[in-house]
Amino acid sequence: MARGIFITLEGADGCGKSTQAELLAEVLLARGREVVRLREPGGTPISEKIRALLLDSANAEMVPEAELLLYEASRAQLTRQVIEPALERGAVVLCDRYYDSTYAYQAGGRGLDETIVRQSNVLGSCGRVPDRTLVLDLDPAIGYARATAGGADRMEAEGLAFQERVRAAYLRLADEEPARVRVVDAAGEKDAVTARLASALEDLL
Ligand code: TYD
Repeated sequence: MARGIFITLEGADGCGKSTQAELLAEVLLARGREVVRLREPGGTPISEKIRALLLDSANAEMVPEAELLLYEASRAQLTRQVIEPALERGAVVLCDRYYDSTYAYQAGGRGLDETIVRQSNVLGSCGRVPDRTLVLDLDPAIGYARATAGGADRMEAEGLAFQERVRAAYLRLADEEPARVRVVDAAGEKDAVTARLASALEDLL
């Protein structure tokens, strides 16, 4: 039986997740918890190789079904190899993206069948459900401009309308699962955003 806490951070590209993951990890460390920070896709040698395939803009011919299965393969490896052992030790696992990204990007963004995406997510996550999911919500136009300032990866190359569908999908998830999925305003001072994120975790800590 897992004793740790599994927290995932979500949001469209450029919402400030990476910065906030770092700041939030400091808050959790200050509470005396072991914190394991991860990002998806990635986090194991196999998952990092899959990440490179997924983000390489040279792989423009990748079909949506292959994309879905690669995200799930990366996730299954990370879940079994890293997340489950960490939770069993009692750590707080802070993961930058998890299966809600697949719902938002592959179902919302790409338009793959929702039922198939949800079933794939059960397989890819090995049935593991985050204890809390924080969606950093930002105007997609601002996030997209920020994310692509230095060039776009294969996913970012899909454009702003794609990011808008991603955001709408996250908001649907929050309506559907309000106990787990919390939307946090990601605009404004970064310390203020961190404080909002931490307060959305208070009941778990
Ligand atoms: P990354 O550079 O890590 O983006 P970010 O910093 O915004 O998290 O790239 C991950 C990309 O992969 C991002 O565009 C979201 C996308 N993605 C999916 O489409 N499906 C998924 O299941 C996951 C985990 C990520």
